[in-house]
Amino acid sequence: MSSGKQSVKVVVRCRPLNDREKALGSKMVLSMDLRRCQCFIEKPGAVDEPPKQFTFDGNYFIDQTTEQMYNEIAYALVEGVTEGYNGTIFAYGQTGSGKSFTMQGVSEPAAQRGVIPRAFEHIFESIQVENTKFLVRASYLEIYNEEIRDLLGTDTKQRLEVNFLLLSLHPVC
Ligand SMILES: Nc1ncnc2c1ncn2[C@@H]1O[C@H](COP(=O)(O)OP(=O)(O)OP(=O)(O)O)[C@@H](O)[C@H]1O
Ligand SMILES: [Mg+2]
Repeated sequence: MSSGKQSVKVVVRCRPLNDREKALGSKMVLSMDLRRCQCFIEKPGAVDEPPKQFTFDGNYFIDQTTEQMYNEIAYALVEGVTEGYNGTIFAYGQTGSGKSFTMQGVSEPAAQRGVIPRAFEHIFESIQVENTKFLVRASYLEIYNEEIRDLLGTDTKQRLEVNFLLLSLHPVC
């Protein structure tokens, strides 16, 4: 993870091959140098071609956990939100790449609990202070094919007009 203080950070996470990919005999084409935050993609069969190389603000390979990602990436951002700064964590990737695994996660093993439950726990712990009341508003939505759908609504097919933050936190005077 780079130590720079830039306001936008882009990190990449690689998931293990799934059963279907293993059954097809697929080979892992991605490798990472975690210390240098670099990843390398090789073209299968093209032994003479050098791998394509990309550098990110943080790299997470198949054995890294969401706990590690949260502590290194999300923790400071959520902490900033509790101090009044805006913050967004955005998962991007093609279908099956691991967005829900990272954001929602699984309860077992505990190290793979998702970013969302971790952030909620973090926020509710930080607002347990005396003499101040907080109002926490949350929404959960999906942008798919350029349409926005409310995933907490009863009709998830209904398009949603959104003009507020995904998660906002206000001290109530
Ligand atoms: N880091 C990981 N370690 C182990 N399994 C993973 C990891 N990331 C994803 N998976 C598994 O890969 C599968 C696909 O992941 P996931 O459902 O999170 O993809 P997605 O990006 O949310 O896809 P979609 O866009 O279709 O919702 C799931 O079975 C998930 O458990
Ligand atoms: Mg998903």
